[in-house]
Amino acid sequence: MVMSKLSRIEIICDMSKFASLKSLLSKLEVGGMTFIQVLGCGAEKGTKEYEVDTNYEMELLPKIEVQCVVESERVDKIVEAVEKELYTGHIGDGKIFVLSLEDVIRVRTGEHGKQAL
Ligand SMILES: Nc1ncnc2c1ncn2[C@@H]1O[C@H](COP(=O)(O)OP(=O)(O)OP(=O)(O)O)[C@@H](O)[C@H]1O
Ligand SMILES: [Mg+2]
Repeated sequence: MVMSKLSRIEIICDMSKFASLKSLLSKLEVGGMTFIQVLGCGAEKGTKEYEVDTNYEMELLPKIEVQCVVESERVDKIVEAVEKELYTGHIGDGKIFVLSLEDVIRVRTGEHGKQAL
């Protein structure tokens, strides 16, 4: 059986983006979404500086991670809209990871793949 390709989009960004991301993803009609509170840091190791000492111990800041699983052909459009929503041009605007996903199963119906979304 040939299944259509699925991807998981993970967006990690500042907590202040919670409401706007939720409404954007809802408008884009994703089949569902998961918001997780996480701790993280990126290239600046949790500081607000562009140049960080290599010996500086990374500091983890509270962030949100938003996960949503969609058909792979929808990824570009969704990622583009999320980028537009998050962009300020400053450090810490967030990061988007796209992973290919093997399968999804809706427990109630036993459906697999895109039918289960
Ligand atoms: N390489 C990575 N691996 C895992 N998680 C990461 C990675 N880079 C960033 N993250 C996660 O994404 C969050 C947001 O990262 P952030 O926007 O600061 O990325 P950045 O690469 O430092 O870009 P910028 O220089 O614009 O700040 C981090 O707090 C962390 O949770
Ligand atoms: Mg950063």
